[in-house]
Amino acid sequence: MGSSAAAAARRAIRFARFDLGRVTLTRRAIRVAGFDVRRLSRTRRNSDFPWDDFDSEWYRAHNYLRLRDDDAEIMRRVATFLSGHAASLPAAPRGLDIGSGANLYPAMAMLPFCADIDLWDFSASNVRWLQAQRDYYDTHWDVFWNAYRKFAAYRDVTNPRESLGRKSHVALRSIFDLPRANWDMGTMFFVAESLTQDPKEFWGAVRRFGRALRPGAPFAAAFMAHSVGYTVGGTFFPAVAVGPAEVEDCLSLVAEQLTIDMVETETPLRRGYGGMILATGVARALS
Ligand SMILES: C[S@@+](CC[C@H](N)C(=O)[O-])C[C@H]1O[C@@H](n2cnc3c(N)ncnc32)[C@H](O)[C@@H]1O
Repeated sequence: MGSSAAAAARRAIRFARFDLGRVTLTRRAIRVAGFDVRRLSRTRRNSDFPWDDFDSEWYRAHNYLRLRDDDAEIMRRVATFLSGHAASLPAAPRGLDIGSGANLYPAMAMLPFCADIDLWDFSASNVRWLQAQRDYYDTHWDVFWNAYRKFAAYRDVTNPRESLGRKSHVALRSIFDLPRANWDMGTMFFVAESLTQDPKEFWGAVRRFGRALRPGAPFAAAFMAHSVGYTVGGTFFPAVAVGPAEVEDCLSLVAEQLTIDMVETETPLRRGYGGMILATGVARALS
């Protein structure tokens, strides 16, 4: 990055709002940084963004070095939900975490229940990060696993580090190319709304995730509410501003038994913070 670009990025960060650890840019931050606002205001699609430059280490350090109260609450609800569906899973269930990025806790949520877990992401840097973590995940993730250990099914996994390494399969794939009805359990955390500015593409991503699951497959999906985008190590990435109603509108086309909730946080909210939305449900049978 040139020195003027670096200075612009620093100015942008000064005026950025912190959106639960995922930085949300305000219009002022964008203006102050000297970005071309007209270009930014054009609706940009998934392929318009530099996913291979996604700074996985920055993202991990910023979001997951410590276990936040809202992530802990999501984990508690997801572990409860998946544990409740364990009895109805087929033999040797296959799980999918789409858009894994630099987050292991969705994959960990599926660990007791799945024989194999696909960790697919569209970013080459995130895929490299996931491959390295699969070999031996960093010790700060132990705190996340210990939170899951409150649930009986998770306590049965004696060596989660070995188990995640053995069961997970990392690949560079797009959510838009997911095969249909291929997985028995799924997670999609902060992905469909955080990969485009185009609401139609957001719907398409949610639909493809739902269709990738076999009918009856339980899933958990999390969304940043009302986000207008985020920076990762100084690079801007997009978002579609969604609330629980938009999440329900599109998920209800591919899923049933839906529960959609805002997740509260004890961390003081910053200006412009929209919260997190957690959806759980099971995939519909589709024609
Ligand atoms: C905000 S991050 C979320 C990462 C992680 N799931 C989490 O919980 O923090 C968005 C993720 O979506 C991924 N992504 C972007 N476009 C994608 C696509 N077309 N298919 C699959 N993943 C994509 C990015 O590489 C990034 O890892």
